[in-house]
Amino acid sequence: MEDAVKKISTCAAGLDELLGGGLEPRMITQFFGEAGSGKSTLCLMAVVSVLRNGGGVVYIDSEGFSIERFSQIAGDSTLEYAKRLYVFEPGTFAEQGLMITESEKLIKSGNAHMIVLDSATALYRVEQMDTKDALSMLSRQMMVLLGIAKRYDIPILITNQVFMDIEHHRLSGLGGTALSHISKAIIRVEKHEGFRRAVVFKHRSQAEGNMWEFVITGDGVRDR
Ligand SMILES: Nc1ncnc2c1ncn2[C@@H]1O[C@H](COP(=O)(O)OP(=O)(O)OP(=O)(O)O)[C@@H](O)[C@H]1O
Ligand SMILES: [Mg+2]
Repeated sequence: MEDAVKKISTCAAGLDELLGGGLEPRMITQFFGEAGSGKSTLCLMAVVSVLRNGGGVVYIDSEGFSIERFSQIAGDSTLEYAKRLYVFEPGTFAEQGLMITESEKLIKSGNAHMIVLDSATALYRVEQMDTKDALSMLSRQMMVLLGIAKRYDIPILITNQVFMDIEHHRLSGLGGTALSHISKAIIRVEKHEGFRRAVVFKHRSQAEGNMWEFVITGDGVRDR
């Protein structure tokens, strides 16, 4: 029955395989990893996949959207695709929440078919809010996203930054258990000397620890 759910390809076969076919509608998929590991590149690959199929995408980018990187990945179709790409750049964590709420209109009207939130946790880090307040605000934002995903049968893709978890001697995703519980598929992206590795951290139907090694290239990614 797995194929009964139509998954959205990320344009990277190795990543699709880790995800059991691609991004699943009606739920949140999370990529987490250190700076420069390749999270945004993988998001843009998925974005271009949706645009290529004639769909539209809402891209909420808390760190400033790179038009240059988008055009490298979109190639000759950049101008055509850009018409169906709705970029929001929140300046504060509260604004991020407003933009998430606003984006429902674009989904409801049928103009967009996926929401990317890149990165979900960057602004709350910058603002140094009280941790409890920040986490409850983040949870609320995620609940709104999940509601939209379920109402309109679309996938949500978020990225998350990491911190050094001293207790467990490893890099962990920000946003605590709230963010990891609400994300039904989580991929950890690692930066290694000369290549990257994507590892299944959590998935309902794929084995944890499955991995795919890749290299970031001018026009996206390729297998290592
Ligand atoms: N045109 C290109 N050709 C090759 N590598 C590139 C190109 N553009 C960007 N990169 C590489 O991609 C990496 C950054 O990837 P990306 O922006 O996807 O990371 P990220 O995980 O989103 O980082 P952050 O947490 O800072 O947002 C850098 O190592 C950069 O050198
Ligand atoms: Mg990024």
